[in-house]
Amino acid sequence: MKKVELTTSISIYESIQELPKNVEALMQKAIKAKENAYAPYSKFKVGASILLENGLIVTGNNQENAAYPSGMCAERVAIWKVASEYPNVKILKLAISASSSNQILKEPVAPCGACRQTLSEYELKQKDKIEVFFMGEEGKIIKTNSVLDLLPIAFDKSFL
Ligand code: THU
Repeated sequence: MKKVELTTSISIYESIQELPKNVEALMQKAIKAKENAYAPYSKFKVGASILLENGLIVTGNNQENAAYPSGMCAERVAIWKVASEYPNVKILKLAISASSSNQILKEPVAPCGACRQTLSEYELKQKDKIEVFFMGEEGKIIKTNSVLDLLPIAFDKSFL
């Protein structure tokens, strides 16, 4: 038996103003995208925005359903919009912001496991890393250089 230490590296920005200008603009689109979240059950709104290599920004937000598991997270709404409309355009960056009606979210809200798995599929498909930036409603932003930094030991097509 041997033990292996896995490490991941993140960057932490103190506020949205500290982000590079193009990322700040991308995050503002994610914040704006929250407005169209349909979250009557959780009252937890998430916005996601994706910057493509051709300069286009594609957004998404969470869409809930009375049959709870039929709803969908913002990140997957956004990335599937990209995958269905621009399947051959490289994804450069993803920005995520979340707001709750229960509390002001001051800590970064990380994408859920199912979204990480979905995002990793497209990162592997395009053979290039996707930078991920996520925040709550205000405060710090965490950045990872790649989806796989959020999902070590991932399941992928090599096992099929
Ligand atoms: N949600 C997202 O949109 N993204 C995540 O990564 C975590 C959770 C949504 C799903 C649901 O509509 C609400 O947040 C509460 O879980």
